[in-house]
Parts: sequence; structure tokens; C-alpha cells
Amino acid sequence: MESGNKKHLLDKLSATIVGDNVCPELRSGATQLVFGDGSHDSKVVFIGEAPGKKEDEMGKPFIGASGKLLNEMLEKIGLTREEVYITNIVKYRPPENRDPSKKEKKAFLPYLKQQISIIAPKLVVTLGRHSMDCFLPGKKISEAHGVPEKVDGITYLPLYHPAVALYNGSMRQTLMNDFHKIPDLI
Ligand code: URA
Repeated sequence: MESGNKKHLLDKLSATIVGDNVCPELRSGATQLVFGDGSHDSKVVFIGEAPGKKEDEMGKPFIGASGKLLNEMLEKIGLTREEVYITNIVKYRPPENRDPSKKEKKAFLPYLKQQISIIAPKLVVTLGRHSMDCFLPGKKISEAHGVPEKVDGITYLPLYHPAVALYNGSMRQTLMNDFHKIPDLI
């Protein structure tokens, strides 16, 4: 699909989420919808959990501390933030940065699946167990991280969430090792 067309469809999808009033309680406590960021033509899509404080303020995913680490790791594998696409399952900030609930994840999942199918990447990288659970349910992240799995023509690579690696050197190394698998998969 042509890039302009993808942009049009993604804009429409973003407006549909607002129009459908998905998770009204979350919406009423959030500043804005945090839809996604990056290249619509990317071969890889990264999916986190939900926006945090900074993301809520700025309307972009992964721009706080976790986002800085994500950017650093992308750079180490020769990718820039601008050439990949980044989004979250839940698109409004949960209060006090609590984990997204099962109901909230379920409510946003059909929209996330449409978002992925418009971009049509080769690889979907899930960040953290919430995101992994949406696509590879029933797995334990301690066993599944870094192991790619193909489902319906798309490869999924579950990774730990960058937030767990922020203050834990060995987790950071594990995450980096897993990141190095990305270039061969796209
Ligand atoms: N953590 C997430 O999962 N998503 C963001 O956008 C920021 C932090």
C-alpha cells in the first residue's frame, strides 16, 4: 500500500478510536490519545503497554525514560526512531501509571490489530508481558523473550519492557542481546 494511503487510514483509525469512545474512564483522566509514532512503511512495529506521564502530555509513545533507552538500543542495531513505528496496546494513560486492565487491553486490541494490518510490518516486537499476552497468550516472558514466533505471516518477537532494564544492568544486557536479533528478522 502507498504511504499516503496508509497515513490516511491511520488518521481515520485514530479518529475512530475517539469516535467510538473506547475506555471512557481512561479517556476522561488522560490529556489526549497517544496513537503511534514513526514510519508508516516500517518493517518493524514496537508495541508497549500504555502511555506514561510524558507520553500523555506530548501525545507520543515512548518519549520518557523508557523511550530514551529504546532509542539507544535502536541506534545500537543501526535503526533510528524515525524509521520504525512505535505504539502501545492501550492508547490513553492509566491513572498513576497503573498496569492496563484486562478489560482495557481487550477494548483496544481490535484497533491495534487494524493499526498493524495497515502498516503491514514483517516483524512485531512486543515490549513487556502485557503486550506479549495480546499476541502470544499463555507464555511466560522469562522463557519466551528473544524467541521469534510466526503467526499468520507475521513474526512476533517478545522482549522485556525497557522499563525493567532501566535500573537493572543484567536485564539491560538481556534486552540488548534480544534486540540484536531484530535486524535478521526484518
Ligand atoms: N511505557 C510504555 O509501555 N509505553 C509508553 O509509551 C511509555 C512507557
